[in-house]
Amino acid sequence: MTTYSFPANFLWGAAASGPQTEGADNKPYRSIWDSWHAHQPERFFQGIGPEKVCETLHKYKEDVALMKKIGFNSFRTSIQWSRLIEDVETGKPNAEAVRFYNDYFDEMINQGIEPMINLYHFDMPEVLQNRYGGFESNHVTDLFALFAKTAFTLFGHKIKYWITFNEPIVPVEGGYLYDFHYPCKKDGKLAAQVGFNIMLAHAKAVKCYRELNLSGEIGVVLNLTPSYTRSDSPEDKKAAWYADLLFNRSFLDPLVKHQFPQELCDVLAKHHCLPDVSHTDVTLITESRIDFLGVNYYVPRRVKARETEYALDYFTPEFYFENYIDPDGRFNPYRDNNEIFPQAIYDIATNIRDNYGNIKWYLAEIGIAMDLESEGPVQQDGIIDDSFRIELMKEHLVQLHRAITAGANCFGVHQWTFIDNWSWINSFKRRYGFYRLDLATGQRQIKRNGLWFKTLAQSNQFSCEDDS
Ligand code: FCB
Repeated sequence: MTTYSFPANFLWGAAASGPQTEGADNKPYRSIWDSWHAHQPERFFQGIGPEKVCETLHKYKEDVALMKKIGFNSFRTSIQWSRLIEDVETGKPNAEAVRFYNDYFDEMINQGIEPMINLYHFDMPEVLQNRYGGFESNHVTDLFALFAKTAFTLFGHKIKYWITFNEPIVPVEGGYLYDFHYPCKKDGKLAAQVGFNIMLAHAKAVKCYRELNLSGEIGVVLNLTPSYTRSDSPEDKKAAWYADLLFNRSFLDPLVKHQFPQELCDVLAKHHCLPDVSHTDVTLITESRIDFLGVNYYVPRRVKARETEYALDYFTPEFYFENYIDPDGRFNPYRDNNEIFPQAIYDIATNIRDNYGNIKWYLAEIGIAMDLESEGPVQQDGIIDDSFRIELMKEHLVQLHRAITAGANCFGVHQWTFIDNWSWINSFKRRYGFYRLDLATGQRQIKRNGLWFKTLAQSNQFSCEDDS
C-alpha cells in the first residue's frame, strides 16, 4: 500500500451549477435552457428539463448539511444570471434572489465550506439570446459585466473565489458548431465570434472586479482535454497539434499567456472565420490577469490525420483531424464507452507547469459517469455501491499526486458532482453525484464514493495498492 498525502489547506469538495440544481421557479427571466426545453422537450433525454432538478432553491439548508457530512471544505456552484438580475439592461438585482444567494452562501460559510462562485455555466438569459443573439453581440459582453458587477457588489465581501466562466468553449461548440446547445447554429465564423466575445466578457468582468478592490481572487474554469495521437507520424502529430490549438490553446493562451496564438488567427483567416474585433477589445483581453485557473477533465482526445475528405459545408476543427479510438484503451462501459485515461491529469499539470507559468490551479471538475442501473439499488446498509467510481478516482488522484510532487501548483480537487444533477440535453441519463437523487421523491441517498471521499477530505490523504 502507498499513502498519498496532499498539500496543507488543499480544497476538497464538489462542483455543480445553478441551472443544473436550483430549479427554475421564482426567476425574473428564463434562461435559454428553460425556453429551449419549453419549445423542444424532445431534444432532452426522456423530455426532462431544468424546471425542478435538485430543488436547491428550497433545499439548500439540508444540502449544505449533506456537504458537511462528507467532509467538504469547499463547493462550487454558479449564480444564475436569469435569477439574480431583474433588469438585464441595467443589472438591477432581484430582491428575492439576493436573499436566496445570501442565505445559501452564508449557510456554507457557517459550516466551514468555502463557496467558489461562478457567473456563467452555459445559461444565457433567453431575452438576451432573442434580442441580441447572446454572445454573438458585443453589447451583451457589457451586460455580462453589469451582472458581474452586481454580483461582486452584493456578495464580494463574503466570496473569496470567483469564476467568470465554466468551460467557455462549450457554448461555442454546442451552440455554434455541433448542435447540442441552443441556438443550435452551425457557423464557423459565428463560433469564433462567440468565443472571442466570451473572452471579452470575461475580461470586462475581471476589470470590474479589480476596480472594486475586493480581497478575493478571480479566475476561469477551462476544460483541458489533451490530444493524443494514433502514431508518431508527422501527419498524426500535426493533427493533434491542430486539435490542441483549436480546443485548448484558443482559450488558454489568451487568458493565461496573454496572447492570441498567431497560428490560430492564421487558421481562422484561412477559413474566413476571423471574428470582427477592435484593437481595444483585444488589448482588454490580453491585459487581463486571472489569479487562478480551474481545470475540468473527463476524457482524453485521441486523433489521427484525416483519412476521409472533410464533408461539412462550414468550418469545424475536425477539418484538420479525425477522432480515433485507441484499440488498447480502457473504456467506461457505463458511459458510451468513454475512454478512461488518468495519465492525462499528469500531462495537463505538466503542460501548465512548463508552458503556462505554473499558474496556481485546481482540478475544478473530475467525474465518473454511471447510469442508474449500473450503480444499482440501495444496499442493505443504506448505501449505493459505486465502488467502480472510487477505484477510478484513486487512479486519477495518483496521477495528480505525481504531478504535485513534480512541482504542479495545484491547490484542490472538486469532483463532479455533489447530488446527481441535471445534465443539459442528457438530463439525468448519467449520474455523477456523491448522493443519488430520487427524481420522484427528491430524496438524497449516499453512495459509497461519498463515504470514501469523506475520509479523503478529512485526512487529506488516501492509500491504495501500488500498481508498480
Ligand atoms: C461538464 C460540465 C458540467 C456537467 C459535466 C458532466 O462538461 O461543466 O456542467 O454537465 O460536464
